[in-house]
Amino acid sequence: MNNPLITEICGVKFNNPLIMASGTFGYGLEYSEIIDLNKIGGISVKGISLNEVQGNPMPRIMETHAGMLNAIGLQNVGVEKFIKEKLPGIKKYSTRIIANFWGKTVDEYVKVAEVLDKEDVDMLEMNISCPNIKEGGIAFGTDPKMTFDVVSEVKKAVNNKPLVVKLSPNVSDISIFGRAVEDAGADAVSAINTLLGMSINTNTRKPFLSNVTGGLSGPAIKPVAVKMVYDLYKTISIPIIGIGGIMNYKDVIEFYLAGASAVQIGTANFVDPEITLEIIKDLENYCIENKIANISQLSGGIVV
Ligand SMILES: Cc1cc2nc3c(=O)[nH]c(=O)nc-3n(C[C@H](O)[C@H](O)[C@H](O)COP(=O)(O)O)c2cc1C
Repeated sequence: MNNPLITEICGVKFNNPLIMASGTFGYGLEYSEIIDLNKIGGISVKGISLNEVQGNPMPRIMETHAGMLNAIGLQNVGVEKFIKEKLPGIKKYSTRIIANFWGKTVDEYVKVAEVLDKEDVDMLEMNISCPNIKEGGIAFGTDPKMTFDVVSEVKKAVNNKPLVVKLSPNVSDISIFGRAVEDAGADAVSAINTLLGMSINTNTRKPFLSNVTGGLSGPAIKPVAVKMVYDLYKTISIPIIGIGGIMNYKDVIEFYLAGASAVQIGTANFVDPEITLEIIKDLENYCIENKIANISQLSGGIVV
């Protein structure tokens, strides 16, 4: 039996469908002594912007009952340093590289995308779903017209790489946004980013995070994420990369059955940086035991 985990999305071949979620795996290199990067399907790097960003003041991470709250504030080295200092190191590994990026304005989105499109990365992942990125006070990913406009502009500037758009869960109907993104020409979507949340210290009456609110991730959000992938699968025809609270191989299969064609592992990396290797082994065994020639056969296989 050939490797049942070989995956192709938008013409890009992955050894397996497990991608490290942006912001939870640095630029990959930070983990190279802990985990063999050749074994993981792909790495979505920390969100890249035009200029270097320091992020929010501490505290900006806290543990919750079933996950974590973060308000890092999109700290990153900026596109120039990413290309010069980070990219050559990751290129030494056979894992696929997904360049996650964002901008404060449409113009910034376009400029970063233009630069990354010419670099040796496999895909671009456009983050329109961070609550911190707003134009005119509205987050790009929570207004369908703005979503369509910013994705259309970026798509015009991207000629060489597949464009994945990462959707926000902080909307009432994600399928409207999936359709807007597909209509704007995106090649795939990834869903979901973090859900808005906050936590208050009952002694001091102050919020735990310096930013007051943050993004909730981890097992707590998995049922929300699975439903959103399911809603998107019913609405759009482009591939969906499922994200949200994946901790083991059964979680991956759940996302596939809901309609995913690949998945990303985020908060689980903070619990155990090697967790993905375990999930890969378990998924392989699951496919072999159940005589599934390729994991893609599970996509959208939910029986309702
Ligand atoms: C500390 C932290 C930083 C993150 N930074 C980014 C980022 O820069 N860009 C992005 O698109 N998503 C970012 N995310 C969102 C994750 O990529 C992922 O969508 C989310 O955490 C849900 O998946 P999970 O429950 O498996 O963690 C971040 C998440 C965390 C926890």
